[in-house]
Amino acid sequence: MQVKAGAGRFTFRGNLRDTRHGWLRLTPAYSLHLVRELVARRTRADLPVLDPFCGTGTTLLACSELGVPCDTLELNPFLVWLARAKVARYDPAAVRQAQALLETAARRALASRASCEWTPPLHNIERWWDRATLCALSRAWTAIQGGDLSPRARDLCRLAFCRSLVGVSSASFRHQSMSFAKPVTPTAARARARVASLLGESMASLARGAALPLPSTRRRVVQGDARAVAQALGGRSYGTVITSPPYANRMSYIRELRPYMYWLGHLSDGRSAGELDWRAIGGTWGQATSNLVHWRAPAAARRGLSSLVRSIAQESAVLSRYVERYFVDMAQHLASLRQLVADGGSIHYVVGNSKFFDVVVPVEELLAAEMKAAGFSRPRIERLRKRTSKKELYEFAVSAAG
Ligand SMILES: C[S@@+](CC[C@H](N)C(=O)[O-])C[C@H]1O[C@@H](n2cnc3c(N)ncnc32)[C@H](O)[C@@H]1O
Repeated sequence: MQVKAGAGRFTFRGNLRDTRHGWLRLTPAYSLHLVRELVARRTRADLPVLDPFCGTGTTLLACSELGVPCDTLELNPFLVWLARAKVARYDPAAVRQAQALLETAARRALASRASCEWTPPLHNIERWWDRATLCALSRAWTAIQGGDLSPRARDLCRLAFCRSLVGVSSASFRHQSMSFAKPVTPTAARARARVASLLGESMASLARGAALPLPSTRRRVVQGDARAVAQALGGRSYGTVITSPPYANRMSYIRELRPYMYWLGHLSDGRSAGELDWRAIGGTWGQATSNLVHWRAPAAARRGLSSLVRSIAQESAVLSRYVERYFVDMAQHLASLRQLVADGGSIHYVVGNSKFFDVVVPVEELLAAEMKAAGFSRPRIERLRKRTSKKELYEFAVSAAG
């Protein structure tokens, strides 16, 4: 694979300029250009593509745009909804309906002296939005919820709301994971105006993407667990897997997605957030970390990783288990996946290495070894780019044959 430096070629930034790919950002979304290259080079073009870690649906949408059949799996219900919405067909009537309701929502957001309506039970919500902004959002959300809409129009309204709520928040997505910027409290009038104008801008941008037709090829988003991907997808056969699994770096998707998930009703308290992250590979939010204290790797898995795990355990027992569990889960996933990949097919995993204390975890090498152990052949590793975090951290494509 030819690697060109710069221009965000291998990062989510390369996606943002492009139509539906930019509908909602998730920091670890991967490069659209890379996905397109891998789709173009696929060996078993007679069979569908699979992405077992869908995220924001980059592989699914790239395939859909190219008219290539694709199935995808995702554990997180919010991302399942988002991926479905990104590849849905929107007729002009649905777009007009959404635009009309968003105009009403923007007027409600702008209303001065109006009360605050429902706000989500998000912990420390004032870190995300000042009071005036939060109340303007709450009125817009109530308007969107109350409207009599077709399902597609409702999706567009919710997408516009999601884009806006992050646009007016104190969250900063400039780093690998989300952080909070120093809060600047706008005047109440300015806060209301920002919410209203972002709703309008978001809808205008969504309408442009929604108007672009997608070829009518097969595309399916299944909610399920990649550790049991064969059961979740009913034993179908795939020619190519193009995916980016979670990295073993303690990044939590729940943490990143909290604001959307609380507003849209996918989460109602910290406990449900921790439970969902415990089911995610590499999950680390709330209860997911405390559960690791009692977790023990199966004896067979422990042998392969022992020296690495011991080095990390010298500093932190919990983090050594975190790393161990990540590779146990990925091995389980690859063993299940093996049942679905046809002879002559190929798998491609975009993954980053990680570092705990002074121990570099060679995720790419361990994953390549796990692919081999699961029955894939000729694993190979290509270094794609240096990550913006610590100096030894890179992103790789780990591939193998079916
Ligand atoms: C690196 S992200 C994928 C990003 C995606 N390539 C994109 O462009 O948006 C990994 C995804 O795996 C999902 N995930 C984690 N554990 C999972 C599991 N056990 N089964 C299915 N999906 C899981 C996470 O929710 C997250 O969306």
